[in-house]
Formats: sequence, structure tokens, C-alpha cells
Amino acid sequence: MKGIILAGGSGTRLQPLTQAVSKQLLPIFDKPLVYYPLSVLMLAGIREILIISTPTDLPAFRRLLGDGNKLGLQLHYATQPEPNGLAEAFVIGADFIGDDDVALVLGDNIFYGPGFSGTLRRHVTSLDGCVLFGYPVKDPQRYGVGEADADGRLISIEEKPAVPRSDRAITGLYFYDNGVVDVARSLRPSARGELEITDVNLRYLRQGRALLVDLGRGFAWLDTGTHDALLEAGQFVQVLEHRQGVRIACIEEIALRMGFIDTDACYELGAALAKSGYGEYVMDVARSAR
Ligand code: DAU
Repeated sequence: MKGIILAGGSGTRLQPLTQAVSKQLLPIFDKPLVYYPLSVLMLAGIREILIISTPTDLPAFRRLLGDGNKLGLQLHYATQPEPNGLAEAFVIGADFIGDDDVALVLGDNIFYGPGFSGTLRRHVTSLDGCVLFGYPVKDPQRYGVGEADADGRLISIEEKPAVPRSDRAITGLYFYDNGVVDVARSLRPSARGELEITDVNLRYLRQGRALLVDLGRGFAWLDTGTHDALLEAGQFVQVLEHRQGVRIACIEEIALRMGFIDTDACYELGAALAKSGYGEYVMDVARSAR
């Protein structure tokens, strides 16, 4: 399976923070926001990843992550000149996807919870159609909203419904079989002028091939859409990291634990950042794994 991180958009709700910096590069405590969705793909075992952003912001992502070789990844880059909708990722990424299945993660989504890696890997292996991940929220009308039957089959999905049928928000992580490229190519822009991911998901629903996995209330799916939400997400990460002494979404540690790199390579990555607590942590992780 290949992975796409969609990290475009204009970040207008976070202005002036996003005037000169991409939303997905803003800090969530000790690391840029994009590390969190990148770590989700890595935990799913995905090593070939396309990062899509605006023509203005893409060079900054490249500067941050390079070709991914040092993390045992192959990172590719592509531009989305206008925010024409989430489903455009599959049109832009068609050549990159080739004949593979693909996971899409939104560059501003943060996931954290017990057993998540196992859940991800199970669904990568057993994918038939598409897999969506649902999360209970108090304000479902702000999101895509889904309902599943007792077997977890998606039975309804609506984008930002005025009267939601459930409290289950569809999170910004989606697994698809290769058919998604043709589905995305066949879409027409919605009333708001976007190629809607919800329309992609509706096609799979109609074929009875869409699964809605419940992330459950013990899980954290954090919002980063407002100034308050951004700060709260950073504080959530800070509290957990200070309490437990481990770092969330540390991509160097994940690369090591997933077997993408060895301890020497991990240590070198930490040493390059040695003046920060983050770099020291990466070196410690490598030392204790030796
Ligand atoms: O976060 C989950 C939600 O994401 C889902 O529940 C919704 O079904 C889905 O439509 C989407 O809703 P949002 O209202 O959050 O979408 P938004 O337009 O804000 O885009 C999400 C992120 O993707 C944002 O960081 C900007 C980026 N983006 C957005 C569009 C439309 C792009 O990179 N390109 C785009 O064309």
C-alpha cells in the first residue's frame, strides 16, 4: 500500500499564523504538525509516500523531510495549485499510486491511542474496497458523518449534515483499493466546487464495500482547525510526553521500531538535532535499542 499526505489548503481559519507558514508545518508542541499524520502512515507499514501541498508551501516540506531516505522512506512531492477538494489527491497522485492500494491522510489530523498500530496494520492487510475510521464527537455537523451496521459496514455517510444521523465523525484517514483513482476521476465538483471525499466514499458504500472502523472514546483524534484547538493539541502532547517520558509521533523512533532503519542510523538522526530535547530523545532511543 502507498500513502498520500494531503497538506494543501490556505489555512484561512488560522490566519495570521498561516500567512507565511503552511498550517501543516505549525508546531504541535515539539514537532511540526505533519509529523503526526506521517507517523500514522509509517505505523501502518507504509514506506512510499506522496506529499501534496500548494506550490508556495511544497518547498518547505521538501526542506523538512527531503527524500525520506534517512528514515527508510521514499518520499515524493506534488503540487495542488488550488484546494479543489480532498478527492483530487487521487487524480494528482494517479501515477504515484500505479496499481497499488492507497491510504490518504489529511496533513492536519492527529491520532493517538492504544492499539492503533495494530488496527492500522490489520486493515491494510484485509482491505476490500475502503476503510474509514469513525470517532464520536459532540459537534458532528462540522465533519463527514457516518453510520455503520452491526458488522461495521458503512450504511450512510453525509458531509457536514445540518441534522447528523449519528455522532460518528469520519476522520481524515482513509484506506482504498486501487479503484479509487477511477472513482476520483469520474467525480464532478460539488455545490461548493470541490471533489468531495464523501462522494468517493458513497460509491464504495453503494457497492457494499465500505467499512467504518470505530476508534472509540478511549482514543484521541484531535482537531487543529482553530487557534484554541491548535494550542490544546500541543498541550495534550506535552502532558502525555512529560508524564510518560516518551514522545508521540517521533518519526525517527517509529522508523527504528518498524525496522525501516537500524540503531546507528537512528542515532545519527538524533545527533543531527542534539541541541534539542527531541534530538537527545532520539539518541536515547537508539542507545537503548542497541
Ligand atoms: O478532518 C476530517 C474531515 O476532513 C472529514 O470529516 C470531512 O468529511 C472532510 O471533508 C474534511 O473536512 P474539513 O472541513 O476538515 O475539510 P477541509 O476543507 O478543512 O480540508 C481538510 C484539510 O485538507 C485542510 O488542512 C486543508 C487540506 N486541503 C483541503 C482541500 C479542500 C487540501 O490540502 N486540499 C484541498 O483541496
